[in-house]
Amino acid sequence: MEITYYGHSCFLLQVKGKSQAYRLLFDPFITGNPLAEKHGITRDILIDPKPDYILLSHAHGDHSGDAEEISKATEAPIVGVWEIHEYYAKRGCPTIGMNVGGTFYAPDKNDPDFWVKLVPAIHSSSFPDGTYGGVPVGFIISNGEQMIYYAGDTALTLEMELIAERYQLDLAILPIGGYFTMDVEDGVEAALLLDVNHVMGVHYDTFPPIQIKHEEAKKAFEEVGVTLHLLGVGERWVVPKDVPAESEPSS
Ligand code: NI
Ligand code: MN
Repeated sequence: MEITYYGHSCFLLQVKGKSQAYRLLFDPFITGNPLAEKHGITRDILIDPKPDYILLSHAHGDHSGDAEEISKATEAPIVGVWEIHEYYAKRGCPTIGMNVGGTFYAPDKNDPDFWVKLVPAIHSSSFPDGTYGGVPVGFIISNGEQMIYYAGDTALTLEMELIAERYQLDLAILPIGGYFTMDVEDGVEAALLLDVNHVMGVHYDTFPPIQIKHEEAKKAFEEVGVTLHLLGVGERWVVPKDVPAESEPSS
């Protein structure tokens, strides 16, 4: 799998399936995103080439952002909980209305190993106009070869232990900016609960209250044997396949 980071919690995940590759665009907040604007990222970059799906962790403006415009321009369906589907369907967007705990499978039956599961997040969710957005979610994405967890906006939660019990993650994408979500300290604890070796940080540096010290953050993760990846805005990154150490007995 390959990630292109657009700042805040917006990223494109390119997933190779057996029959085709999928372009999954997460939380497309570009307009009004100072990080994206500073680095010359525009909505057009997210429209062409077009995403196959737009996935929203929740309705807050720094996540739902440009979803309506991108969906209308590309016909990419917006995937989210039922309230998110209702909101965008009313506005004429194609949608896939699910709910937390549900799993989305590729429409192509030749790709049974590609799926996206909506998992709980501890946060709130309303659209900028005040409309209720349902519950917030995180996502687990698999193509049978790799598995990634994107937490969305969340507090530290024991749900992560259950995720680790069931899924062998190659990467966790965690909010680490604090104030609205987990901070670095909580992110380290989350990485331990999730039993991952690689974490990609999101939801930091966009606004003054969520600024972090990069080197200190990396060191904090390093101390527990986890690599924190802080991608540059616009940077593309191939997610490493995390081969479990055979010498490590599981208990
Ligand atoms: Ni939020
Ligand atoms: Mn947010």
